[in-house]
Amino acid sequence: MASPVAATAGREQSTRLLIMDRQQALAAIQARHAVRQFTDQPLEPGVRQALMEAVAAENEAGGLHLQVLFDEPAAFGGMRAHYGRFRGVRHYLALIGRKAPDLAQRCGFHGQQVVLLAQHLGLNSCWVALNFSRSQSRAEVGPKERFVVAVALGYGVTPGRSHKVRALTELGEVADGGPWPPWFEAGVAAAQLAPSGLNQQRFHFRLEGEAVTGSAGWSSYAEVDLGIARRHFQIGAGPGPWHWA
Ligand SMILES: Cc1cc2nc3c(=O)[nH]c(=O)nc-3n(C[C@H](O)[C@H](O)[C@H](O)COP(=O)(O)O)c2cc1C
Repeated sequence: MASPVAATAGREQSTRLLIMDRQQALAAIQARHAVRQFTDQPLEPGVRQALMEAVAAENEAGGLHLQVLFDEPAAFGGMRAHYGRFRGVRHYLALIGRKAPDLAQRCGFHGQQVVLLAQHLGLNSCWVALNFSRSQSRAEVGPKERFVVAVALGYGVTPGRSHKVRALTELGEVADGGPWPPWFEAGVAAAQLAPSGLNQQRFHFRLEGEAVTGSAGWSSYAEVDLGIARRHFQIGAGPGPWHWA
């Protein structure tokens, strides 16, 4: 059993790790790329604790049942299996919540905060809708809940690389063709780096007065994608003269 001193030290470390200011979140947005192959390097206790605390905070904020599973390779076909392009996935975030029309979007918005914290802690990640088995997962799914998607987590074999993104003018718009305030451009630029299913980036931000509307186009996981992009937008735009419509 861990000594009380060690346990306290672990808590202090996790509290320190959990705090991610806006600059660090922006750095995580820049550094994050989809990574599908992971090494065997174990996750340190402080990292695990910080992820669990972040999950608890996002569940509270978003009314969700997100869970982080450690050392559970079964849903990704076991440690040595290739599951799609995934390999060595032992840890993942399960995006689960009570069925509701906005569930997918909330999973994206709150899940991405955990993903950015993971990046800040030195981990890599990849959102995954198809290449894992919900039935092999030990995540708890209540009778009125839905297991929407997952995010593979761990130390990547590589840090990943940049992918093609849509132009800012495809992703954002100011009503009446007015000029883009710098905070709006910064928000759309952060959203431009958001991961999306099949890299489709079918989301759009429109500014009217001080109200920003985020909307999703049609694609399989468009609502999850929009939630992720809204999280990036909010971090990029920062606290400013704006609010969500
Ligand atoms: C909601 C969602 C579902 C995804 N599902 C899968 C998947 O099933 N398999 C996969 O290999 N990648 C999946 N991805 C990863 C995307 O392909 C990847 O994020 C995208 O190509 C952009 O690359 P980037 O994350 O490096 O910016 C998914 C991403 C999102 C946001």
